[in-house]
Amino acid sequence: MGVDEEKIVAAKKAAELVDDGMVIGLGTGSTIEFFIKEVGERIKREEIEIWCVPSSYQSHMLAAENGFFITDLFQVGELDACIDGADQVDSELNCIKGKGGALLREKIIAQASEKVYIIVDSRKLSEKLSKSVPIEVLPYAYGSVVKKIERIGGKVMLRESKTKIGPCITDNGNFILDVDFGILENPSELERELNGIAGVIENGIFPSKLISAVIVGGKDEKAKILKKES
Ligand code: A5P
Repeated sequence: MGVDEEKIVAAKKAAELVDDGMVIGLGTGSTIEFFIKEVGERIKREEIEIWCVPSSYQSHMLAAENGFFITDLFQVGELDACIDGADQVDSELNCIKGKGGALLREKIIAQASEKVYIIVDSRKLSEKLSKSVPIEVLPYAYGSVVKKIERIGGKVMLRESKTKIGPCITDNGNFILDVDFGILENPSELERELNGIAGVIENGIFPSKLISAVIVGGKDEKAKILKKES
């Protein structure tokens, strides 16, 4: 089974969690694209009404094309659930997110949601988090934030745009740093420490306390649901 097939298996399973009249947060990325299309099929077939708060222009446009009603956090301060992808998930269900640059809005909708479901292919699972951590930074503070992060041991790369010269600018008008910290022994502590630096708007560590379950598209065409041990 290829990566896309596994993403589709996870997306289909998550689409079953959605009910008529629900208001959901939509993450960003290729796995969420499959999820939006799956729910779009249900909207057509079952004539259900699904409201959403998208986390990016990508998911906003896709949701509109697929028959979702779109709302925002002015209208609804709380969401029934949030469905999102991830770049890496550790054995305790801490996640790294933000490869698509949407981590700030993704964390906002996750924190606004009663339940947070992460959907991934099996290659995203890892014993410990070790991928670079995306960090959204106010451009004004770029230089000082880089120095502070280097002092706590991070190797910083400014994310460059692929289609224009210069930095990649987020949907919120900010820079993204991709920071290599090696293996993350204590993701929650690093998340808090990074957000304590003035000029850091948000970072891509999503601690497991925020996550209700991780749905993994397995190689056997079955989705596995991972929950924290309580
Ligand atoms: C977007 O900023 C990210 O957090 C995505 O959710 C994450 O990168 C997963 O993307 P894919 O589903 O494309 O792998």
